[in-house]
Amino acid sequence: MKWIIDTDPGIDDAAAIITFLAYRGEDVLGITTVHGNVGIEHTTKNALRLVELMGMDIPVYKGLTQPLLQPPATATAFHGSDGFGDAHLPDPTRTVACGHAVDFIIDQVHRHAGDICLLTLGPLSNIAVALAKDRSITREIREIYMMAGTCRGRGNTTAASEFNVYTDPEAAAIVFASGVPITVVPWETCVDTMFGPDVVEEIRKIETTVGRTFAKAMEFAVKKTLASTGREGVVLCDLLAACAAIDPSVVLESEKVLMRVETGGVYSRGFTMVDGRPNRGVQPNAVLCTGCDRSKIASMFLAALGHKTN
Ligand code: BDR
Ligand code: CA
Repeated sequence: MKWIIDTDPGIDDAAAIITFLAYRGEDVLGITTVHGNVGIEHTTKNALRLVELMGMDIPVYKGLTQPLLQPPATATAFHGSDGFGDAHLPDPTRTVACGHAVDFIIDQVHRHAGDICLLTLGPLSNIAVALAKDRSITREIREIYMMAGTCRGRGNTTAASEFNVYTDPEAAAIVFASGVPITVVPWETCVDTMFGPDVVEEIRKIETTVGRTFAKAMEFAVKKTLASTGREGVVLCDLLAACAAIDPSVVLESEKVLMRVETGGVYSRGFTMVDGRPNRGVQPNAVLCTGCDRSKIASMFLAALGHKTN
């Protein structure tokens, strides 16, 4: 199976990318970047830094700089102005690959038709444009694993909406209506699977370059989490989607449902509607992950951080 990671790094994107590359790096065809947590220049630099840190030769393609209809929004309050906890890392020595992320996705899906999955960790703008530009890829993508949306209607960016959907609801609506099989890790599952102070302490102790670099960025998220929720620890949303894609047994509870995205509404723009009514002829389009194995995910992540790459 081949993979493309579409991402807006982002501290939790970094955790997801480090882990996915440690376990499945050889099968990753490329990383595509998108606007989101920070602007595209930062998300692209951060993706290049992560590939470099992991000592891998994986191309990074720059994608959409803004959502389909609305102005871009960022999450610098949680990820720092550089998307990496204001760690102010040196510039990567690698450079971005030639060509647009959307064209890379379309081309690779055709080349590996039926044997390619996407792991999406940010707003779905690149994927929606790829599907709109070449509809035939819908039949050729095996599955999309994504961190997106909510399962109980409790958002993080608005009361009803999660960041990756809220920042480009039209794109998310296109992807959920595309017919491509989707496995979704929603926001509430990420909060339920939060790492406590014990795991944070384990991360701080790791002495590889990757471990130390991640720990530096993580301190920002730990402080922000404490300030905003009063809880000690860190929520690494995108890591859950990466681990579910690597090893489906980390998903302890899931449900086949129909998911749609609300693009209108006064309070509900970006809300993910979940319809799980079995007797109403509802055709599911997604596997919604409602419970994950925290200790297995922590072990996978700690192992990935401890992976010696240089
Ligand atoms: C999602 O939003 C971003 O801030 C994170 O990187 C994650 O992908 C969580 O809502
Ligand atoms: Ca993300």
